[in-house]
Amino acid sequence: MAHEQEKEAAARASLKFVKDGQIVGVGTGSTAAFFIDLLGQEVKKGLRIQTIPTSDRSGEQAASLGIPLTTFEEHPEIDVTVDGADEVDEQLRLIKGGGGALLHEKIVGSATKQYVIIVDSSKRVPVLGKFALPVEVIKFAQPVVAKKIQALGAKVELRRDAKGNPFLTDEHNHILDCRFGEIRNPEALARTLSDMPGIVEHGLFIGMANVVLIANGSQVVELTRKG
Ligand code: A5P
Repeated sequence: MAHEQEKEAAARASLKFVKDGQIVGVGTGSTAAFFIDLLGQEVKKGLRIQTIPTSDRSGEQAASLGIPLTTFEEHPEIDVTVDGADEVDEQLRLIKGGGGALLHEKIVGSATKQYVIIVDSSKRVPVLGKFALPVEVIKFAQPVVAKKIQALGAKVELRRDAKGNPFLTDEHNHILDCRFGEIRNPEALARTLSDMPGIVEHGLFIGMANVVLIANGSQVVELTRKG
């Protein structure tokens, strides 16, 4: 419960980054859902923005609150995106994809000028890797990719939905949850995974977040990436 309050506090603190007239990327997950709710309240009060969602479910939530949606065809550049994360380290490197939306999240993040991450205190870690790294793969390649990632030293599990079927992303791909333990060199692992045929995207987000808002109790700490 405490974490739910922290998620809401971080989401509330991110509202100052959203300005009238902007194109706003909206993330996916329980923390981003708090942000979308608060954004809906601001829109009702008169804030004029258009949003690009990172998943079908975030788009549905935004639409249900009367938040205008737009597309990359109309707006290929996003002013600010607010999204959650599964882990954040001191260099603002992230693991994302616990909610299965990493592919669209990374594309939206890459098209964004100001990428703001909102998390509760449980997400801050000294070293990434306690959370299983989500890797999105095309179905055809899944056994091949799983074997190669195992050979890198990870325990690999195919993500399943509530019915026990393989989880399907919005792009109809599968997700492998890969337990590496401590990821001492996230940059090197990110390159290795990006070079593997069949991997569509992985959940290491490096050099992307500009700001991370970490709620700890009622305090929200703001970390800014240097460089
Ligand atoms: C969605 O695919 C993820 O990247 C989420 O941003 C991440 O899993 C955080 O989710 P919660 O806010 O629900 O913890």
